[in-house]
Amino acid sequence: MSSSVRPRSRTIVALIAATLLLLSGAAAWSGGAQEEVDETVTITWARGVDHTGASQKIVEAFNASQDRIVVELLELPADEGSQHDAYVTSFSGEGTEYDVFNSNVIWPAEFSDAGFALPVDRFIERDGINLDDYVEGYIDAYTFRGQMWGMPWYGNAGLLYYRTDIVDTPPETWDELIEMAARYVGEGGTRFGYAFQADQYEGLVCNAVEFIASYGGEIMDFDGNVTINNPGTIKGLEKLVEIAQRDFVPADIVNFKEHETLTSFIAGDVVFARNWPYMWGISQNEQESSVAGNVGTAPLPAGDAGSASALGGWGIMINRFTENPEEAWEFVKFLTGVEGQRIHAIEGAQLPTYTPLYRDQEVMEVNPAFAMFEEGIRAAVPRPTSPIYPEISDIIQIELSRAIVGEQTVVQAVETMERRMSEAIRAAR
Ligand code: GLC
Repeated sequence: MSSSVRPRSRTIVALIAATLLLLSGAAAWSGGAQEEVDETVTITWARGVDHTGASQKIVEAFNASQDRIVVELLELPADEGSQHDAYVTSFSGEGTEYDVFNSNVIWPAEFSDAGFALPVDRFIERDGINLDDYVEGYIDAYTFRGQMWGMPWYGNAGLLYYRTDIVDTPPETWDELIEMAARYVGEGGTRFGYAFQADQYEGLVCNAVEFIASYGGEIMDFDGNVTINNPGTIKGLEKLVEIAQRDFVPADIVNFKEHETLTSFIAGDVVFARNWPYMWGISQNEQESSVAGNVGTAPLPAGDAGSASALGGWGIMINRFTENPEEAWEFVKFLTGVEGQRIHAIEGAQLPTYTPLYRDQEVMEVNPAFAMFEEGIRAAVPRPTSPIYPEISDIIQIELSRAIVGEQTVVQAVETMERRMSEAIRAAR
């Protein structure tokens, strides 16, 4: 293995060497010490801020497991849009400040098409990684044009949360949810019947995907054709808009992301809420939540075609311009394999995509609800795969937001989405 060192480390090595020479004279300087410094490679892992501290623990475990690679954790802002933009800016200039980075399930097509990501197939084959051990939807998410552009890390799927001190049996359909939210609002100190993510951002697209799929609609087909203008999509989005306009949702629902949903739910303000599995642990923690002990979860309500939840989650990709691809892969292998995912499940309560962990005694003891969530991530519905996904998503966000605030009907919104998406795809060809 070559002892390739990043330029910054080379400068540091040179500075240390010069200082030592000055301090102790050339005779005291032994080649052995220099080799030791030279052999260490530093890998930077970038991700959004991790409030659970699990990522730092994974880094410590990896660094302690060997002495050749030192991983440094670099935390970016929590908002996924700013992480995306930081990566695009850096990689567009062939930057090397991020060797390994967290990637949302919707990024691989875009990042591979732009030449930002290193394919990992050769490492997977060489090291005998068994992809059958991972939830299939996440392998699909990191596969584009026949190659793997990263490894799955943790899974996410939308869930319904409800107050068990107010509601005995959760609603099975969206119409029942509407009826029950209107009936129970005000009970048990609540101010709202339902909270979800209606802000104009990626989370709104996840909610839209859930309504569309539960009424049998579609956004794009497997060949990348725009198929959004269909009766199922219209019915699903009309249901979403109907709920967003009811007075049992917070008046500022168009400013709600996951965090606002969480805060209002743990403050005891809401009867029903849609969020990802991470809200389970926090809402059941007595130190953080006023509703601990009174929280239930269920699959999201069904439309005409059944219940559907959006496939969310994150994987790990390698910067194509990294100077240390081998070392970067060594860390990715640890992070996304049994060790890294186990620490993340126990310390961070995040859902493994590495399925043997659902049979790991300690993981399941710490997170008994994982058994229920595993089904959810296996059945989850992906968002469209496209190299221009950010544009597709923006179009949905903008047109749906205009329908939510009553500037246009859902039928008009869907017609505009169809036209603008088709134009964007044509322009990108
Ligand atoms: C979660 C999901 C991610 C999704 C985001 C939307 O982080 O894991 O896939 O894009 O929420 O807000």
